Amino acid sequence: MSDIRTLGEFIVEKQTDFPHASGELSSLLGSIKLAAKIVNREINKAGLVDITGSVGGENIQGEDQQKLDVYANDKFKAALEARDQVCGVASEEEDEAVAFNKELNLNAKYVVLMDPLDGSSNIDVNVSVGTIFSIYRRVSPEGTPPTEEDFLQPGHRQVAAGYIIYGSSTMLVYTTGNGVHGFTYDPSLGVFCLSHENMQIPEDGQIYSINEGNYIRFPMGVKKYIKHCQEDVPDDNRPYTSRYIGSLVADFHRNLLKGGIYMYPSTATHPNGKLRLLYECNPMAFLIEQAGGLASDGKKRIMDIKPTELHQRVPFFVGSTNMVHNVETFIEEFPEQH
Ligand code: AHG
Ligand code: MN
Ligand code: MN
Repeated sequence: MSDIRTLGEFIVEKQTDFPHASGELSSLLGSIKLAAKIVNREINKAGLVDITGSVGGENIQGEDQQKLDVYANDKFKAALEARDQVCGVASEEEDEAVAFNKELNLNAKYVVLMDPLDGSSNIDVNVSVGTIFSIYRRVSPEGTPPTEEDFLQPGHRQVAAGYIIYGSSTMLVYTTGNGVHGFTYDPSLGVFCLSHENMQIPEDGQIYSINEGNYIRFPMGVKKYIKHCQEDVPDDNRPYTSRYIGSLVADFHRNLLKGGIYMYPSTATHPNGKLRLLYECNPMAFLIEQAGGLASDGKKRIMDIKPTELHQRVPFFVGSTNMVHNVETFIEEFPEQH
């Protein structure tokens, strides 16, 4: 019992690692933890009460909004506003960034960008979903409403990022730039307990994760890389294993633990891919680099991209260092679009 370390205890213990430690970031992570528990409780009821299915509307990106997308968005927003450490949030489910106008929030240092429910098409079929978050210090002056500039910062300026995976168990995984730490939720105690300290992704992996149904529309370099993964070369542990859940959080989490690569390239119909730079790719890029892996758009580092739009999409290749390097080499060698 005595060696259980809860997320709350761990954050306080590590508080001095934060560059501008004063307890605010700890409190902010505490509000994410609280919202995660509330969303977890609701997700666990899927199938029992009327929370699955679509709300009958679309978000600004033309995607069908699920009831739990809206629920998770509301809960995370409310938890972040209540603790007074955040002056505004941007979310997949909000057209524009939302400013919190209470005086205490106006004085807050941080903005949060989030995908409140990732993989939402998997809810109705009882498959893992997640929440992704990314935290920046604002660049606009404290005491004023946040500006666009606060939200459009390159990923390398993140102060913290993480995800919650609502899976066969629920976990919260985060980084503040000092390694990646994972906590498993114990529902009987109502606490997240440290279960994966200092997670590291193997340099080489044997899993590739991509929606291969889109194969015909992929750039030539990606097609060639997929064929490379499938080649029979036992000395190089090929063919690799193909695994694709369709929830980025779940695919990423598996590959982080086992070694592998997740890819969502550009396609003939979606030249920038599908995933969103600010609240899907950047937080995962920060985590993977902290775990010893890489995240690329196929040519350059994800976290060096200067964002221009809140809901901007970007091709995404993330995972074990040698695998990401390898796909970049194929893309360079076969630059044809299709
Ligand atoms: P979201 O549910 O937040 O819109 O994200 C879905 C994303 C990501 O989680 C997943 O990996 C990808 O979309 C799956 O897309 P395809 O169905 O096109 O493979
Ligand atoms: Mn998503
Ligand atoms: Mn989502």
